[in-house]
Amino acid sequence: MINKKGFLWGGATAANQYEGSYNQGGRGESVIDYIPGGKQRMMLSFENKIDIYSRDEKQYVYPNHRAVEGYDYYFKDIDLMAEMGFNVYRMSISWSRIYPTGFEEQPNQEGVQYYRKVFEYLREKQIEPLVTIAHFDIPIEIARTNDGWHNRNTVDLYAKLCETLFTEYDGLVKLWIPFNEMNACMFLPLMTVGTDLTKFDNRDEALYQCLHHQLVANAMAVKIAKEINPENKLATMTIAGANYAYDCNPVNVLAKTIDARMFNYFCGDVQHRGFYPNYALSMFKHNGYNIIMEDGDVELLANNTVDFHTFSYYSSMVTDVVNEHETSGGNMIHGVPNPHLKASEWGWTIDPIGLRIVLNELYDRWNTQLMIVENGLGAIDEFDGTTVNDDYRIDYLEKHIEQMEIAVNIDGVDLIGYTPWGWIDLVSASTGEMSKRYGFVYVDIDDQGNGTANRYPKASFYWYKEVISNNGLK
Ligand code: BG6
Repeated sequence: MINKKGFLWGGATAANQYEGSYNQGGRGESVIDYIPGGKQRMMLSFENKIDIYSRDEKQYVYPNHRAVEGYDYYFKDIDLMAEMGFNVYRMSISWSRIYPTGFEEQPNQEGVQYYRKVFEYLREKQIEPLVTIAHFDIPIEIARTNDGWHNRNTVDLYAKLCETLFTEYDGLVKLWIPFNEMNACMFLPLMTVGTDLTKFDNRDEALYQCLHHQLVANAMAVKIAKEINPENKLATMTIAGANYAYDCNPVNVLAKTIDARMFNYFCGDVQHRGFYPNYALSMFKHNGYNIIMEDGDVELLANNTVDFHTFSYYSSMVTDVVNEHETSGGNMIHGVPNPHLKASEWGWTIDPIGLRIVLNELYDRWNTQLMIVENGLGAIDEFDGTTVNDDYRIDYLEKHIEQMEIAVNIDGVDLIGYTPWGWIDLVSASTGEMSKRYGFVYVDIDDQGNGTANRYPKASFYWYKEVISNNGLK
């Protein structure tokens, strides 16, 4: 049991993987609508081998077009959340439902009213919405016209979106995450920053320029949100994963320390402390990166830090720069296999104790409230026509919740909530598969996009309901 009152228990989804209805309700197209499903999806995105002007629907499936029909099922799905006892729901809005191309002066009223009804219904069910503004979601016109986040103008388009959201939903939503997994841009540039990095002579320099624009946009979001309502609370969101040196060889310990700084801490350091850390500025200088910062950026970052830190945690990684090994998998974090740990069917290392380590490390570093906004097991489920007996998922979650409870009850970490990923089955971000399922609720859609979309609670649904009602494990 978590020894604190008011702990937030819920689940998470993202519009692009959940809603579908990609051309309904006045929605414009988004970059994700051009990214096909399949095992090569992440690599295609990494290498920018995706055509953002046309689709090859004969050869590929574009799973996010239908996703899991959340757009049509939202209200029924909220009933399921309420049945499980959620008091928080992490979701995202689709930018192109609000501004179809990103460039309009006025928002699409159908999109604005749609989310209003969702938020109102959540409130009616006493579920607090925690809203991510950009979760792998950029109108396609911004990618085509602006080169995504590489262009400074995208900051203004995003600020306009934020102003609309904070004004329209004032009083309905007070918890906001401006960007999902900001550090993911190093691996998934097209999905996260909408930029074809192959156009630039120096890929990494271009990437850090995009990231600078997102950091500035994040600070603007904080500024606008607080001006509209000082009660608004904003969080940064990063991928967190424990990073271990393979052995006590100082060379490996050093490599792990340097890797962890740039990947795990850089975005959070800027957003919590309000300035670029020296290690990042030195790295830019050492590599000759010229990151263009405008007058006023330094002050904007300094004066608009975030209120709390949210993160995803799926796995840990091991660094060895001395010996040769095979690579191991994880959520965009890849190292060498850890001989002490097992991996999921998708090769993601399973490490519950790593969660306790991460909770302690992040709390020590920023001394701010934390929230785990993604955690879970992507697995193949055997659906028997009515349900799924997903003991393996229960086992994974139970072991992670146990470590989370130790971190709170014994280590004193100020953790405020837990929203496991994909509380309902949805499209995988990295592969576009439906067969990589995370949910407490089974959705009848397959990898080809066929199926009824009917919902069926799994064994884990009833287990999680019990966890919530006990405020943790018995
Ligand atoms: C996180 C993302 O990286 O991991 C989610 O924020 C994603 O969008 C989740 O779905 C799990 O990854 P995957 O690739 O298994 O869907």
